Amino acid sequence: MSQLVEVKVPDIGDFDDVSVIEVLVKEGDSISENDSIITVESDKASMEIPSSASGVIKSMRVKLGDKVSEGVVLLTLEPSDKDDSSKDTKEEPKVEAASEPKEPKEQTEPKSKSSKEEATALPPESEHKQSSKTYIAQSSDAGDKVGKTKESPTAAFALSGKEIRNLPHASPSVRQFARSLGVDLSQVKGTGRKSRIVLDDVRNFVKSALSAPGGITTGSSTLGGSGLSLLDWPKVDFAKFGEVDTKPLSRIKKISGANLHRNWVMIPHVTNNDEADITDLEAFRVQLNKEYEKAGTKFTMLAFIFKAVVQALKKFPEFNASIDGENLVYKKYYHIGFAADTPNGLVVPVIKDADKKSVSDIAKETAELAKLARDGKLSPTQMQGGCFTISSLGGIGGTHFTPIINAPEVAILGVSRSFQKPVWDGKEFKPRLTLPLSLSYDHRIIDGAAAARFNAFLSQLLSDFRRALI
Ligand code: COA
Repeated sequence: MSQLVEVKVPDIGDFDDVSVIEVLVKEGDSISENDSIITVESDKASMEIPSSASGVIKSMRVKLGDKVSEGVVLLTLEPSDKDDSSKDTKEEPKVEAASEPKEPKEQTEPKSKSSKEEATALPPESEHKQSSKTYIAQSSDAGDKVGKTKESPTAAFALSGKEIRNLPHASPSVRQFARSLGVDLSQVKGTGRKSRIVLDDVRNFVKSALSAPGGITTGSSTLGGSGLSLLDWPKVDFAKFGEVDTKPLSRIKKISGANLHRNWVMIPHVTNNDEADITDLEAFRVQLNKEYEKAGTKFTMLAFIFKAVVQALKKFPEFNASIDGENLVYKKYYHIGFAADTPNGLVVPVIKDADKKSVSDIAKETAELAKLARDGKLSPTQMQGGCFTISSLGGIGGTHFTPIINAPEVAILGVSRSFQKPVWDGKEFKPRLTLPLSLSYDHRIIDGAAAARFNAFLSQLLSDFRRALI
Protein backbone atom coordinates (compact mmCIF):
# COMPACT_ATOMS: atom_id res chain seq x y z
CA MET A 1 0.00 0.00 0.00
CA SER A 2 1.31 3.47 -0.84
CA GLN A 3 2.18 5.89 1.89
CA LEU A 4 -0.77 8.09 2.85
CA VAL A 5 -0.72 11.70 1.75
CA GLU A 6 -2.04 14.62 3.76
CA VAL A 7 -3.85 17.36 1.92
CA LYS A 8 -3.70 20.63 3.81
CA VAL A 9 -5.09 24.11 3.50
CA PRO A 10 -2.44 26.03 1.62
CA ASP A 11 -1.57 29.69 2.01
CA ILE A 12 -4.93 31.35 1.32
CA GLY A 13 -3.85 34.90 1.92
CA ASP A 14 -6.12 36.88 4.21
CA PHE A 15 -8.55 34.00 4.67
CA ASP A 16 -7.79 32.92 8.21
CA ASP A 17 -9.98 30.86 10.51
CA VAL A 18 -12.71 30.66 7.89
CA SER A 19 -15.81 28.46 8.02
CA VAL A 20 -16.24 25.32 5.97
CA ILE A 21 -19.58 25.83 4.24
CA GLU A 22 -19.45 22.87 1.87
CA VAL A 23 -17.71 19.51 1.94
CA LEU A 24 -17.58 18.27 -1.60
CA VAL A 25 -15.99 14.84 -1.10
CA LYS A 26 -16.26 11.91 1.33
CA GLU A 27 -14.22 8.96 2.52
CA GLY A 28 -13.79 6.35 -0.16
CA ASP A 29 -14.09 8.87 -3.00
CA SER A 30 -11.49 8.68 -5.68
CA ILE A 31 -10.34 12.19 -6.44
CA SER A 32 -7.90 13.80 -8.82
CA GLU A 33 -5.43 16.52 -8.13
CA ASN A 34 -7.18 19.90 -8.29
CA ASP A 35 -10.63 18.46 -7.57
CA SER A 36 -12.37 20.72 -5.09
CA ILE A 37 -12.52 19.37 -1.57
CA ILE A 38 -14.28 22.02 0.46
CA THR A 39 -15.64 25.52 0.11
CA VAL A 40 -14.71 28.03 2.77
CA GLU A 41 -16.41 31.30 3.41
CA SER A 42 -15.20 34.47 5.04
CA ASP A 43 -17.48 37.41 5.74
CA LYS A 44 -16.79 38.73 2.24
CA ALA A 45 -16.28 35.83 -0.16
CA SER A 46 -16.20 32.09 -0.63
CA MET A 47 -13.38 30.06 -2.06
CA GLU A 48 -12.86 26.44 -3.03
CA ILE A 49 -9.87 24.51 -1.81
CA PRO A 50 -8.69 21.89 -4.28
CA SER A 51 -6.79 18.71 -3.64
CA SER A 52 -3.06 18.77 -4.12
CA ALA A 53 -2.91 15.10 -5.08
CA SER A 54 -4.85 12.28 -6.71
CA GLY A 55 -5.98 9.13 -4.93
CA VAL A 56 -8.62 7.51 -2.74
CA ILE A 57 -9.73 9.38 0.37
CA LYS A 58 -8.91 7.37 3.48
CA SER A 59 -10.06 9.82 6.12
CA MET A 60 -11.80 13.16 6.20
CA ARG A 61 -10.47 15.53 8.84
CA VAL A 62 -12.94 18.38 8.41
CA LYS A 63 -16.70 18.67 8.53
CA LEU A 64 -19.31 21.30 7.80
CA GLY A 65 -19.02 24.28 10.11
CA ASP A 66 -15.38 23.70 11.07
CA LYS A 67 -13.04 26.68 11.01
CA VAL A 68 -9.85 26.24 9.02
CA SER A 69 -6.66 28.17 8.38
CA GLU A 70 -3.45 27.59 6.45
CA GLY A 71 -1.84 24.26 7.33
CA VAL A 72 -4.96 22.50 8.62
CA VAL A 73 -5.14 18.91 7.36
CA LEU A 74 -8.29 18.41 5.31
CA LEU A 75 -7.98 14.75 4.47
CA THR A 76 -5.58 11.90 3.96
CA LEU A 77 -5.53 9.90 0.81
CA GLU A 78 -3.90 6.87 -0.65
CA PRO A 79 -2.22 8.12 -3.79
CA SER A 80 -3.28 6.53 -7.03
CA ASP A 81 -0.66 4.33 -8.73
CA LYS A 82 0.35 7.02 -11.14
CA ASP A 83 0.83 9.36 -8.19
CA ASP A 84 4.04 8.67 -6.36
CA SER A 85 3.82 11.91 -4.47
CA SER A 86 4.87 10.29 -1.24
CA LYS A 87 8.40 10.24 -2.52
CA ASP A 88 8.65 13.95 -2.75
CA THR A 89 7.96 16.14 0.23
CA LYS A 90 9.56 19.29 -1.02
CA GLU A 91 6.86 20.77 -3.14
CA GLU A 92 3.83 22.54 -1.93
CA PRO A 93 0.38 21.54 -3.12
CA LYS A 94 -0.85 23.53 -6.02
CA VAL A 95 -3.67 25.72 -4.88
CA GLU A 96 -6.47 27.16 -6.79
CA ALA A 97 -8.37 29.28 -4.39
CA ALA A 98 -10.97 29.62 -7.01
CA SER A 99 -14.23 31.39 -7.15
CA GLU A 100 -15.24 28.87 -9.79
CA PRO A 101 -16.03 25.22 -9.28
CA LYS A 102 -13.75 22.83 -11.11
CA GLU A 103 -14.82 21.65 -14.49
CA PRO A 104 -15.82 18.02 -14.67
CA LYS A 105 -12.66 15.93 -14.96
CA GLU A 106 -13.01 15.20 -18.65
CA GLN A 107 -13.14 18.91 -19.38
CA THR A 108 -10.14 19.98 -17.38
CA GLU A 109 -7.03 21.20 -19.11
CA PRO A 110 -4.16 18.78 -19.39
CA LYS A 111 -2.09 19.18 -16.25
CA SER A 112 1.28 20.71 -16.66
CA LYS A 113 2.55 19.26 -13.40
CA SER A 114 2.28 15.78 -12.05
CA SER A 115 0.86 15.06 -8.65
CA LYS A 116 4.33 13.97 -7.74
CA GLU A 117 5.47 17.54 -7.88
CA GLU A 118 2.61 18.89 -5.88
CA ALA A 119 1.57 16.49 -3.16
CA THR A 120 2.70 16.52 0.41
CA ALA A 121 3.70 13.11 1.64
CA LEU A 122 2.78 11.95 5.09
CA PRO A 123 5.70 10.31 6.75
CA PRO A 124 4.77 9.26 10.28
CA GLU A 125 4.87 12.17 12.71
CA SER A 126 6.33 14.40 10.05
CA GLU A 127 5.98 18.10 10.42
CA HIS A 128 6.44 19.73 7.11
CA LYS A 129 5.62 23.36 6.97
CA GLN A 130 4.32 24.36 3.60
CA SER A 131 6.42 27.16 2.32
CA SER A 132 4.83 30.42 1.44
CA LYS A 133 3.95 30.74 -2.18
CA THR A 134 2.17 33.28 -4.18
CA TYR A 135 -1.28 33.81 -5.57
CA ILE A 136 -1.61 34.37 -9.22
CA ALA A 137 -4.61 35.69 -10.98
CA GLN A 138 -6.20 33.88 -13.83
CA SER A 139 -9.20 34.81 -15.83
CA SER A 140 -11.49 32.05 -16.96
CA ASP A 141 -14.36 32.26 -19.36
CA ALA A 142 -16.73 32.91 -16.54
CA GLY A 143 -14.73 34.63 -13.89
CA ASP A 144 -11.44 34.83 -12.10
CA LYS A 145 -9.44 32.09 -10.51
CA VAL A 146 -6.65 32.43 -8.11
CA GLY A 147 -4.03 29.78 -7.98
CA LYS A 148 -0.43 29.24 -7.21
CA THR A 149 2.28 27.08 -8.58
CA LYS A 150 5.88 26.45 -8.02
CA GLU A 151 6.91 27.84 -11.34
CA SER A 152 4.97 31.06 -11.12
CA PRO A 153 5.62 33.06 -8.03
CA THR A 154 3.33 35.76 -9.14
CA ALA A 155 1.90 36.91 -12.35
CA ALA A 156 2.04 40.35 -13.68
CA PHE A 157 -1.09 42.16 -12.79
CA ALA A 158 -1.99 39.73 -10.05
CA LEU A 159 -5.17 39.99 -8.02
CA SER A 160 -4.69 41.98 -4.88
CA GLY A 161 -5.89 40.66 -1.55
CA LYS A 162 -8.83 43.00 -1.81
CA GLU A 163 -9.75 41.66 -5.23
CA ILE A 164 -9.53 38.12 -3.92
CA ARG A 165 -11.89 39.04 -1.08
CA ASN A 166 -14.23 40.76 -3.50
CA LEU A 167 -14.80 37.77 -5.73
CA PRO A 168 -18.53 37.13 -6.16
CA HIS A 169 -20.13 35.34 -3.25
CA ALA A 170 -21.86 32.17 -4.50
CA SER A 171 -21.88 28.43 -3.98
CA PRO A 172 -20.16 26.13 -6.49
CA SER A 173 -23.49 24.89 -7.84
CA VAL A 174 -24.59 28.45 -8.54
CA ARG A 175 -21.23 29.16 -10.16
CA GLN A 176 -21.61 26.04 -12.30
CA PHE A 177 -25.10 27.15 -13.30
CA ALA A 178 -23.89 30.66 -14.13
CA ARG A 179 -21.03 29.29 -16.13
CA SER A 180 -23.31 26.99 -18.13
CA LEU A 181 -25.23 30.13 -19.17
CA GLY A 182 -22.10 32.17 -19.72
CA VAL A 183 -23.08 34.64 -16.99
CA ASP A 184 -20.37 36.73 -15.37
CA LEU A 185 -21.24 36.54 -11.68
CA SER A 186 -19.59 39.86 -10.93
CA GLN A 187 -22.52 41.43 -12.81
CA VAL A 188 -25.16 39.66 -10.70
CA LYS A 189 -26.62 41.17 -7.54
CA GLY A 190 -26.95 38.61 -4.75
CA THR A 191 -30.14 38.51 -2.69
CA GLY A 192 -29.09 35.71 -0.34
CA ARG A 193 -27.58 35.99 3.11
CA LYS A 194 -24.66 38.45 3.13
CA SER A 195 -25.52 39.26 -0.51
CA ARG A 196 -24.74 35.72 -1.56
CA ILE A 197 -25.78 35.04 -5.15
CA VAL A 198 -28.45 32.32 -5.35
CA LEU A 199 -29.83 30.42 -8.36
CA ASP A 200 -32.80 32.76 -8.74
CA ASP A 201 -30.45 35.74 -8.93
CA VAL A 202 -28.74 34.17 -11.93
CA ARG A 203 -32.07 33.29 -13.57
CA ASN A 204 -33.41 36.81 -13.01
CA PHE A 205 -30.21 38.32 -14.32
CA VAL A 206 -30.51 36.34 -17.55
CA LYS A 207 -34.21 37.17 -17.92
CA SER A 208 -33.72 40.88 -17.46
CA ALA A 209 -30.61 40.96 -19.62
CA LEU A 210 -32.40 39.18 -22.46
CA SER A 211 -35.30 41.60 -22.33
CA ALA A 212 -33.01 44.66 -22.17
CA PRO A 213 -32.56 46.62 -25.41
CA GLY A 214 -28.82 45.99 -25.65
CA GLY A 215 -29.02 42.25 -25.02
CA ILE A 216 -26.52 40.28 -22.97
CA THR A 217 -22.96 39.36 -23.73
CA THR A 218 -22.15 35.77 -22.88
CA GLY A 219 -18.56 34.69 -23.29
CA SER A 220 -17.50 35.42 -26.83
CA SER A 221 -20.96 35.71 -28.33
CA THR A 222 -23.62 38.33 -28.04
CA LEU A 223 -27.30 37.67 -27.57
CA GLY A 224 -29.54 40.42 -28.78
CA GLY A 225 -27.29 43.31 -29.77
CA SER A 226 -24.25 45.12 -28.47
CA GLY A 227 -21.02 43.76 -27.04
CA LEU A 228 -17.96 42.17 -28.56
CA SER A 229 -18.78 39.68 -31.25
CA LEU A 230 -15.44 38.50 -32.51
CA LEU A 231 -14.37 36.03 -35.10
CA ASP A 232 -12.83 32.81 -33.84
CA TRP A 233 -9.04 32.78 -33.53
CA PRO A 234 -7.54 31.60 -36.86
CA LYS A 235 -6.76 27.90 -36.82
CA VAL A 236 -3.75 27.24 -39.01
CA ASP A 237 -1.79 24.05 -39.54
CA PHE A 238 1.61 25.77 -39.37
CA ALA A 239 3.43 22.49 -40.06
CA LYS A 240 2.00 22.59 -43.56
CA PHE A 241 4.27 25.53 -44.31
CA GLY A 242 7.52 24.43 -42.69
CA GLU A 243 9.11 22.80 -39.67
CA VAL A 244 7.68 23.86 -36.30
CA ASP A 245 8.28 23.12 -32.63
CA THR A 246 5.22 23.36 -30.34
CA LYS A 247 5.63 24.04 -26.62
CA PRO A 248 2.89 24.72 -24.07
CA LEU A 249 2.63 28.27 -22.75
CA SER A 250 4.01 28.55 -19.22
CA ARG A 251 1.35 28.89 -16.57
CA ILE A 252 2.52 32.37 -15.69
CA LYS A 253 2.21 33.44 -19.32
CA LYS A 254 -1.34 32.12 -19.47
CA ILE A 255 -2.21 33.95 -16.30
CA SER A 256 -0.53 37.24 -17.03
CA GLY A 257 -1.84 37.03 -20.59
CA ALA A 258 -5.42 36.77 -19.33
CA ASN A 259 -4.92 39.73 -17.02
CA LEU A 260 -3.22 41.85 -19.66
CA HIS A 261 -6.00 40.96 -22.09
CA ARG A 262 -8.70 42.02 -19.61
CA ASN A 263 -6.90 45.27 -18.83
CA TRP A 264 -6.33 46.07 -22.48
CA VAL A 265 -9.91 45.35 -23.49
CA MET A 266 -11.65 46.96 -20.51
CA ILE A 267 -9.58 50.09 -20.07
CA PRO A 268 -9.58 52.79 -22.73
CA HIS A 269 -5.83 53.32 -22.89
CA VAL A 270 -4.11 56.38 -24.23
CA THR A 271 -0.35 56.85 -24.05
CA ASN A 272 1.30 60.23 -23.64
CA ASN A 273 4.95 60.32 -24.71
CA ASP A 274 7.42 62.83 -23.36
CA GLU A 275 11.13 63.13 -22.69
CA ALA A 276 13.24 64.24 -19.75
CA ASP A 277 16.67 65.78 -19.99
CA ILE A 278 18.53 63.66 -17.42
CA THR A 279 22.04 64.87 -18.26
CA ASP A 280 22.55 66.45 -14.84
CA LEU A 281 20.75 63.73 -12.93
CA GLU A 282 22.83 61.02 -14.60
CA ALA A 283 26.04 62.91 -13.79
CA PHE A 284 24.88 63.22 -10.18
CA ARG A 285 23.98 59.51 -10.07
CA VAL A 286 27.38 58.48 -11.45
CA GLN A 287 29.10 60.72 -8.89
CA LEU A 288 27.02 59.27 -6.02
CA ASN A 289 27.81 55.75 -7.14
CA LYS A 290 31.54 56.56 -7.01
CA GLU A 291 31.23 58.13 -3.56
CA TYR A 292 29.19 55.27 -2.13
CA GLU A 293 30.96 52.45 -3.92
CA LYS A 294 32.79 51.34 -0.79
CA ALA A 295 29.55 51.33 1.21
CA GLY A 296 28.08 49.00 -1.41
CA THR A 297 25.24 51.41 -2.20
CA LYS A 298 24.05 51.66 -5.79
CA PHE A 299 21.90 54.53 -6.98
CA THR A 300 19.83 53.46 -9.98
CA MET A 301 18.01 55.71 -12.39
CA LEU A 302 14.90 53.68 -11.63
CA ALA A 303 15.05 54.71 -7.95
CA PHE A 304 15.18 58.39 -8.90
CA ILE A 305 12.22 57.81 -11.20
CA PHE A 306 10.31 56.29 -8.27
CA LYS A 307 10.86 59.43 -6.22
CA ALA A 308 9.83 61.68 -9.09
CA VAL A 309 6.69 59.58 -9.65
CA VAL A 310 5.72 59.92 -5.99
CA GLN A 311 6.00 63.71 -6.28
CA ALA A 312 3.88 63.66 -9.43
CA LEU A 313 1.26 61.45 -7.76
CA LYS A 314 1.07 63.91 -4.88
CA LYS A 315 0.52 66.78 -7.29
CA PHE A 316 -1.98 64.86 -9.45
CA PRO A 317 -3.99 62.67 -7.03
CA GLU A 318 -6.29 61.24 -9.70
CA PHE A 319 -3.29 59.23 -10.90
CA ASN A 320 -3.14 57.63 -7.46
CA ALA A 321 -6.75 56.47 -7.61
CA SER A 322 -8.83 53.45 -8.59
CA ILE A 323 -12.35 53.01 -9.87
CA ASP A 324 -14.56 51.17 -7.40
CA GLY A 325 -18.04 50.87 -8.92
CA GLU A 326 -19.46 54.35 -9.06
CA ASN A 327 -16.70 55.78 -6.88
CA LEU A 328 -13.14 56.88 -7.40
CA VAL A 329 -10.93 55.85 -4.49
CA TYR A 330 -8.09 58.28 -3.86
CA LYS A 331 -5.20 56.63 -2.06
CA LYS A 332 -3.23 58.54 0.50
CA TYR A 333 -0.37 56.09 0.43
CA TYR A 334 2.25 55.66 -2.28
CA HIS A 335 2.90 51.99 -3.03
CA ILE A 336 4.64 51.83 -6.38
CA GLY A 337 4.91 48.63 -8.42
CA PHE A 338 7.57 47.94 -11.00
CA ALA A 339 7.48 45.41 -13.80
CA ALA A 340 10.22 42.83 -13.42
CA ASP A 341 11.20 40.54 -16.23
CA THR A 342 11.67 36.95 -15.00
CA PRO A 343 12.40 33.67 -16.81
CA ASN A 344 8.76 32.67 -16.27
CA GLY A 345 7.26 35.96 -17.37
CA LEU A 346 6.40 39.39 -16.14
CA VAL A 347 5.72 40.07 -12.44
CA VAL A 348 5.04 43.29 -10.54
CA PRO A 349 6.60 43.60 -7.07
CA VAL A 350 5.49 46.62 -5.08
CA ILE A 351 7.61 49.04 -3.06
CA LYS A 352 5.41 50.06 -0.16
CA ASP A 353 5.45 53.67 1.10
CA ALA A 354 7.91 54.84 -1.53
CA ASP A 355 7.32 58.40 -0.33
CA LYS A 356 8.95 57.56 3.00
CA LYS A 357 12.01 55.88 1.52
CA SER A 358 15.26 57.35 0.28
CA VAL A 359 16.58 56.87 -3.25
CA SER A 360 19.18 54.41 -1.96
CA ASP A 361 16.54 52.47 0.03
CA ILE A 362 14.41 52.20 -3.08
CA ALA A 363 17.37 51.14 -5.22
CA LYS A 364 18.21 48.43 -2.69
CA GLU A 365 14.64 47.24 -2.34
CA THR A 366 13.97 47.12 -6.09
CA ALA A 367 17.11 45.02 -6.55
CA GLU A 368 16.04 42.66 -3.74
CA LEU A 369 12.48 42.33 -4.99
CA ALA A 370 13.63 41.84 -8.59
CA LYS A 371 15.92 39.04 -7.42
CA LEU A 372 13.14 37.42 -5.41
CA ALA A 373 10.90 37.68 -8.46
CA ARG A 374 13.49 36.06 -10.71
CA ASP A 375 14.07 33.30 -8.16
CA GLY A 376 10.33 32.70 -7.89
CA LYS A 377 10.29 33.62 -4.23
CA LEU A 378 8.07 36.68 -4.04
CA SER A 379 5.39 36.47 -1.38
CA PRO A 380 1.79 37.57 -2.11
CA THR A 381 2.12 40.66 0.05
CA GLN A 382 5.16 41.80 -1.89
CA MET A 383 3.03 42.37 -4.97
CA GLN A 384 -0.17 43.65 -3.46
CA GLY A 385 -1.45 47.12 -2.76
CA GLY A 386 0.16 48.91 -5.70
CA CYS A 387 -1.12 52.38 -6.64
CA PHE A 388 0.86 53.00 -9.82
CA THR A 389 3.33 50.94 -11.84
CA ILE A 390 6.64 51.76 -13.51
CA SER A 391 7.79 49.57 -16.35
CA SER A 392 11.42 50.26 -17.18
CA LEU A 393 12.90 48.84 -20.32
CA GLY A 394 15.79 51.29 -20.01
CA GLY A 395 18.34 48.58 -19.39
CA ILE A 396 17.26 46.80 -22.56
CA GLY A 397 16.40 49.34 -25.25
CA GLY A 398 13.63 50.93 -27.27
CA THR A 399 12.51 54.48 -27.74
CA HIS A 400 8.88 54.59 -26.56
CA PHE A 401 6.23 51.94 -25.96
CA THR A 402 2.67 51.55 -24.74
CA PRO A 403 2.61 49.91 -21.32
CA ILE A 404 -0.69 48.24 -20.37
CA ILE A 405 -2.31 49.62 -17.24
CA ASN A 406 -2.21 47.31 -14.23
CA ALA A 407 -5.88 47.33 -13.15
CA PRO A 408 -7.29 48.59 -10.88
CA GLU A 409 -4.61 51.25 -11.16
CA VAL A 410 -5.35 54.06 -13.60
CA ALA A 411 -1.93 54.77 -15.07
CA ILE A 412 1.46 53.26 -15.72
CA LEU A 413 4.76 54.82 -16.67
CA GLY A 414 6.92 53.17 -19.34
CA VAL A 415 10.58 54.18 -19.34
CA SER A 416 12.78 53.47 -22.33
CA ARG A 417 16.53 53.68 -22.90
CA SER A 418 18.11 57.11 -22.52
CA PHE A 419 19.96 58.47 -25.53
CA GLN A 420 22.03 61.49 -26.51
CA LYS A 421 20.01 64.09 -28.34
CA PRO A 422 21.24 67.32 -29.89
CA VAL A 423 19.35 70.16 -28.20
CA TRP A 424 19.47 73.80 -29.36
CA ASP A 425 20.33 76.09 -26.44
CA GLY A 426 19.82 79.32 -28.39
CA LYS A 427 23.39 79.44 -29.66
CA GLU A 428 24.36 75.90 -30.52
CA PHE A 429 23.32 72.30 -30.41
CA LYS A 430 24.46 70.50 -27.26
CA PRO A 431 24.28 66.79 -26.58
CA ARG A 432 21.76 66.09 -23.82
CA LEU A 433 21.00 62.72 -22.25
CA THR A 434 17.32 62.19 -22.89
CA LEU A 435 14.99 59.75 -21.15
CA PRO A 436 11.80 58.70 -22.99
CA LEU A 437 8.70 58.60 -20.80
CA SER A 438 5.53 56.82 -21.93
CA LEU A 439 2.55 57.36 -19.67
CA SER A 440 -0.48 55.15 -20.38
CA TYR A 441 -3.61 56.33 -18.63
CA ASP A 442 -7.21 55.28 -18.21
CA HIS A 443 -9.09 57.84 -20.24
CA ARG A 444 -12.27 57.27 -18.23
CA ILE A 445 -10.56 58.89 -15.26
CA ILE A 446 -7.76 60.97 -16.68
CA ASP A 447 -8.06 63.58 -19.40
CA GLY A 448 -5.38 63.95 -22.04
CA ALA A 449 -4.43 67.38 -20.70
CA ALA A 450 -3.93 66.02 -17.17
CA ALA A 451 -1.74 63.23 -18.55
CA ALA A 452 0.35 65.72 -20.50
CA ARG A 453 0.73 67.81 -17.32
CA PHE A 454 1.71 64.79 -15.25
CA ASN A 455 4.32 63.70 -17.77
CA ALA A 456 5.65 67.24 -18.23
CA PHE A 457 5.94 67.63 -14.44
CA LEU A 458 7.79 64.31 -14.24
CA SER A 459 10.09 65.47 -17.01
CA GLN A 460 10.80 68.73 -15.14
CA LEU A 461 11.62 66.89 -11.92
CA LEU A 462 13.98 64.50 -13.63
CA SER A 463 15.61 67.34 -15.57
CA ASP A 464 16.20 69.29 -12.36
CA PHE A 465 15.86 67.02 -9.37
CA ARG A 466 16.09 69.95 -6.95
CA ARG A 467 12.43 70.49 -7.79
CA ALA A 468 11.60 67.21 -6.03
CA LEU A 469 12.47 68.96 -2.78
CA ILE A 470 9.89 71.69 -3.27
N1 COA B 1 18.54 54.22 -20.00
C1 COA B 1 19.79 53.75 -20.17
N2 COA B 1 20.32 52.81 -19.36
C2 COA B 1 19.58 52.36 -18.36
C3 COA B 1 18.26 52.82 -18.13
C4 COA B 1 17.76 53.81 -19.00
N3 COA B 1 16.52 54.29 -18.86
N4 COA B 1 17.76 52.17 -17.07
C5 COA B 1 18.70 51.33 -16.64
N5 COA B 1 19.79 51.44 -17.41
C6 COA B 1 21.04 50.74 -17.27
C7 COA B 1 21.40 50.62 -15.83
O1 COA B 1 22.10 51.76 -15.39
C8 COA B 1 22.25 49.40 -15.81
O2 COA B 1 23.53 49.72 -16.24
P1 COA B 1 24.82 49.40 -15.32
O3 COA B 1 24.78 47.91 -15.16
O4 COA B 1 25.93 49.91 -16.13
O5 COA B 1 24.58 50.11 -14.05
C9 COA B 1 21.64 48.53 -16.88
O6 COA B 1 20.86 49.39 -17.71
C10 COA B 1 20.76 47.40 -16.39
O7 COA B 1 19.75 47.92 -15.60
P2 COA B 1 18.64 46.94 -15.01
O8 COA B 1 19.24 45.68 -14.54
O9 COA B 1 17.52 46.82 -15.95
O10 COA B 1 18.21 47.67 -13.69
P3 COA B 1 17.07 48.70 -13.50
O11 COA B 1 17.17 49.16 -12.09
O12 COA B 1 17.05 49.74 -14.53
O13 COA B 1 15.71 47.84 -13.68
C11 COA B 1 14.18 46.05 -13.44
C12 COA B 1 15.34 46.80 -12.82
C13 COA B 1 13.74 44.96 -12.48
C14 COA B 1 13.02 47.01 -13.66
C15 COA B 1 14.62 45.49 -14.79
O14 COA B 1 15.69 44.62 -14.60
C16 COA B 1 13.55 44.77 -15.54
O15 COA B 1 13.17 43.63 -15.24
N6 COA B 1 13.03 45.43 -16.60
C17 COA B 1 12.06 44.82 -17.49
C18 COA B 1 10.68 45.34 -17.22
C19 COA B 1 9.73 44.84 -18.26
O16 COA B 1 9.83 43.72 -18.74
N7 COA B 1 8.79 45.69 -18.65
C20 COA B 1 7.93 45.41 -19.72
C21 COA B 1 6.54 45.47 -19.27
S1 COA B 1 5.46 45.78 -20.58
